[in-house]
Amino acid sequence: MSKVTVVGAGNVGATCANVLAFNEVADQVVILDVKEGVSEGKAMDMMQTAQLLGFDSTVVGCTNDYAQTADSDVVIITSGIPRKPGMTREELISVNAGIVKSVAENLLKYSPNAVIVVISNPMDTMTYLALKSLGVPKNRIIGMGGALDSSRFKYNLTEALGCNANDVEGMVIGGHGDTTMIPLARLATYKGIPVTNLLSAEKIEEVVKATMVGGATLTGLLGTSAWYAPGAAGALVAEAIIHDQKKMIPCSVALEGEYGQNDICIGVPVVLGKNGIEKIVELELNDAEKELFAKSADAVRATNDVLKEINVL
Ligand code: 2OP
Repeated sequence: MSKVTVVGAGNVGATCANVLAFNEVADQVVILDVKEGVSEGKAMDMMQTAQLLGFDSTVVGCTNDYAQTADSDVVIITSGIPRKPGMTREELISVNAGIVKSVAENLLKYSPNAVIVVISNPMDTMTYLALKSLGVPKNRIIGMGGALDSSRFKYNLTEALGCNANDVEGMVIGGHGDTTMIPLARLATYKGIPVTNLLSAEKIEEVVKATMVGGATLTGLLGTSAWYAPGAAGALVAEAIIHDQKKMIPCSVALEGEYGQNDICIGVPVVLGKNGIEKIVELELNDAEKELFAKSADAVRATNDVLKEINVL
């Protein structure tokens, strides 16, 4: 039996669980939250759509009962507070670091072989915290930011091109922050045609900027951070793992020399399969992209340093 646990029954966690169930990614989806009854209620609500939508997965909710998460193949951590308008993801670190660490430790007690997918912000730093504190092999610790940011990049390209959403390819690497992400316009394509042949430099610049502040734009509109795309991005990553799809998806992963970086989790394309990260794909970046990547890594590292200052690492 395949099993995925989603910790956090807020907007992102519930959306993620719903997508996992609707797409029948796993036989069982467990939602765990600290708020009495909320996971149970959301799981029951989702199960009441099973017959309407025609899916066979089972969704179970529980309040802080980690025993129910036992033997999960993938665990997805969405716990912590979301950002409010005007806040950066980095400002959430002092509250979210302690929560993410203890959630991950509890999950591992019951699912020692699970692949851990981190959604909580600041995502690259929370992924790094999991890597440094849990003693789990690096192939089993994955931050989903690049999957989300790439999806926003493709959306913005689709809007600029006026084309079908599924005809565009593009990747975002670097940190999952308003100033650290790197939408790779040079490599983006519309049905194999470079978008740089189809859009003006000014239009591409607009698309890149809109992508980088994509999360902040939604936070401004919604009063809290987004959930449909973040939840679906978490489910996409989990699906690639559970179904051993060998899909290439940009994710935040531990680098050991790749892209000239060490001791950091940051977004790069990886091949995902049953072992989690099956392979890190090293793109041939040009000099400008290399410089952006190095700067992005410096910024992520500065946020990682806060983990020591607040004694979480
Ligand atoms: C976002 O970018 C929640 O970080 C997430 O919307």
